[in-house]
Amino acid sequence: MRTVDLIQRKRNGEELAPEEITWLVDSYTAGEIPDYQMAAFLMAVYFQSMSDRECTAMTESFIASGEKIDLSSVPGPKVDKHSTGGVGDKTSLIAAPLAVAAGVKVPMISGRALGHTGGTLDKLESVPGFRTDLSVDEFREQLAKIGFAVIGQSLSVTPADGKFYALRDATSTIESIPLIAASIMAKKLSLTLDGLVLDVKVGSGAFMKRQVDARRLAQMMVTIARRADLRAQALVTDMNQPLGYAVGNALEIMEVSQTLQNAGPLDLHRISIELAARMIYLAKVAPTLEDARDLAQAKLIDGSAYKKFKEVIQAQGGNPQVLDRFDLLPNASGAHEITSPRGGYISAIDAEYIGLASTMIGAGRDRKEDEIDPAVGVVLEVKVGQKVDAGAVLCRVYYTKEDNLEEAAQLVEDAFRISNAAPEGRELILEVVG
Ligand code: URA
Repeated sequence: MRTVDLIQRKRNGEELAPEEITWLVDSYTAGEIPDYQMAAFLMAVYFQSMSDRECTAMTESFIASGEKIDLSSVPGPKVDKHSTGGVGDKTSLIAAPLAVAAGVKVPMISGRALGHTGGTLDKLESVPGFRTDLSVDEFREQLAKIGFAVIGQSLSVTPADGKFYALRDATSTIESIPLIAASIMAKKLSLTLDGLVLDVKVGSGAFMKRQVDARRLAQMMVTIARRADLRAQALVTDMNQPLGYAVGNALEIMEVSQTLQNAGPLDLHRISIELAARMIYLAKVAPTLEDARDLAQAKLIDGSAYKKFKEVIQAQGGNPQVLDRFDLLPNASGAHEITSPRGGYISAIDAEYIGLASTMIGAGRDRKEDEIDPAVGVVLEVKVGQKVDAGAVLCRVYYTKEDNLEEAAQLVEDAFRISNAAPEGRELILEVVG
């Protein structure tokens, strides 16, 4: 096989055979195909897409590049949850403890910030001392002991996805339905799971801007799961405005803490309960979805999910006190206020602009090797639909360095739309697939 022939055939819209996809993934992972050829192939996929068969072959090759983690020695139903990526999306850190408190085991392989979206691993690592590099044995032991453990893609888990992920981030080929599906599903299928809940984001702050694309992505992932005999459900949810109020790693941990103490923003609370309920239901811990919702809500009210999250932080080397004392988290040195130029209703808060601005001041990465600044980000004071007076504070940009601050503040300002009439309410949970 010659890489250039496969690039050409994909560029021309042909379907490649599973062995050809496997050869490409294996050769690139082994360093036998240079970045420039794989970048061209990914761009061809971006424009021509891939069939379910090609996507399944890519997923399987990603999994085979690493170790498959057998969790059969850990008793109890194992269900994971994954988001396709959003702005202010910290639901994994709320839904998982809720499900664990209800009796589900959650072995989680999470991702890092990608493009303008945040990553669960970066959020957790803003807790001083928190380790996301557990060995497979440590991961399994922690799962058995406290029901919840989080790691990332690594040299032993789907290393091929790691290489492709970094190249996609640098070549503007992230927003491809089959590439996202293969990347996420390889990480999830590297574990022996009983169920999987997917949160497919759609809107300005998501990789999928149109609901039809989000639906297709949801269907593709659910199909891959079914082929692997894994029960999966996907929710398609709105990501036009940031979720909750906080965007940025340590700032989001603070909001997770508030939400787990039943004092969080309405949208974040609602979606986290729904995701947790689906996890509980797929795990067969509750007989109906309604019962599962009640159970998730009960675990929020009685504080057991909050306690569970503290246990996880402690087990992975972090200081659980950060959830009560935010001064123990990295804190920004300055706050820049954005105020409303006029009175009216907030009709839009463009999540992509807020995500890009946060990345620009250090909450995300421009290049794979960039360090994250855990303290920085944006905290909204208002949400869509709210009435404001001229001069009211719309949000604060928290920063530690002034580089890029002016440009980021301008982007944040441009994210807000103010109208004379109240906008129509928008549904948060748009569809369920699977
Ligand atoms: N999350 C992932 O793990 N991979 C992607 O490609 C996008 C979001």
